[in-house]
Amino acid sequence: MTEKKRIVSGMRPTGPLHLGNYHGALENWISMQNDYDCFFFIADWHALTSDYEDTGRTREFTRQMMVDWLSAGLSPEQSTLFVQSHIKEHAELFLLLSMITPTPWLERNPTYKDQIDQLNNKDLSTFGFLGYPVLQAADIIIYKAEGVPVGIDQVPHIELTREIVRRFNYLYGPVFPEPQTILTKMAKILGTDRRKMSKSYHNAIYLSDTPDAIMKTVSQMITDPQRARKSDPGNPDVCNVFEFHRIYSDSSLVAAINDDCRSAKIGCVECKKMMAKNLSDALAPIREKNAYYTARPDLVDDMLASGEKKAAQVAGATLAEVRAAIKI
Ligand code: TRP
Ligand code: SF4
Repeated sequence: MTEKKRIVSGMRPTGPLHLGNYHGALENWISMQNDYDCFFFIADWHALTSDYEDTGRTREFTRQMMVDWLSAGLSPEQSTLFVQSHIKEHAELFLLLSMITPTPWLERNPTYKDQIDQLNNKDLSTFGFLGYPVLQAADIIIYKAEGVPVGIDQVPHIELTREIVRRFNYLYGPVFPEPQTILTKMAKILGTDRRKMSKSYHNAIYLSDTPDAIMKTVSQMITDPQRARKSDPGNPDVCNVFEFHRIYSDSSLVAAINDDCRSAKIGCVECKKMMAKNLSDALAPIREKNAYYTARPDLVDDMLASGEKKAAQVAGATLAEVRAAIKI
């Protein structure tokens, strides 16, 4: 039997996970657990790069992220699940990589420029924020990952990681493999206002939402903007509620709504109620596990600790090699 390929990925703990996170990343991670040697971590140091002024809930969000992961189906038996800041070697490798990373590589990074423009309510002219991708490179190569499952927005960071690896290996000898991007399909899910689903836009449905909360959020969803009255025929092709039906309703209902919307036989209120019910039913098992793990913080922390043990072994061995290569 050949060894499974190792993959590494992380998420910043900025709040509970929503359907965009689930369909955009987590579902993909869950499906890779059988075929890859998976290291998944909660990137709490990365959360600090932009939220350093407001750190009060970082620990809460960190445990909550593990609860969401477990509830959705990440398994601590199959994958190595841990918290970034518990493995101090990430910071040591970050420091060492920072010595060899030219700052123009970082200033040129498109994500860096975008974020500075977008998050203009935060002062991001910090050393830590500029160095974000160097820390990310350390996260990845410390486990000698061959692949990194991420969305398209992270591609420049993985490219930079590969450049840093080439430079390191050139200067000190071949220690690290160059990781490949394993591109995750973009989330097919938009927020209630049809923008990208995001906590900061207040347009998200969360994995842990109650049926009532789901019903309320769904009732606020924008439908076919051309359809003012129930007697107007609608167009499901431009309706976000219909996209959700495609995921959460069975195919006969999807076909019926497709017809009945176009012939104005169904109103949006009724259509949304059916969708909300099916969505809520689909999330029920996740919601139940969420309640279970939320009530057992010690169990969750134990699971993180066992992942941490395994991650620490690998990270420690890599750092020993790195120190030898650099002769420090
Ligand atoms: N930057 C990633 C994001 O915002 C999170 C992350 C941190 C990450 N370290 C990583 C992803 C290492 C993959 C590998 O989504
Ligand atoms: Fe969308 Fe359903 Fe309204 Fe048609 S009936 S516009 S599919 S919400």
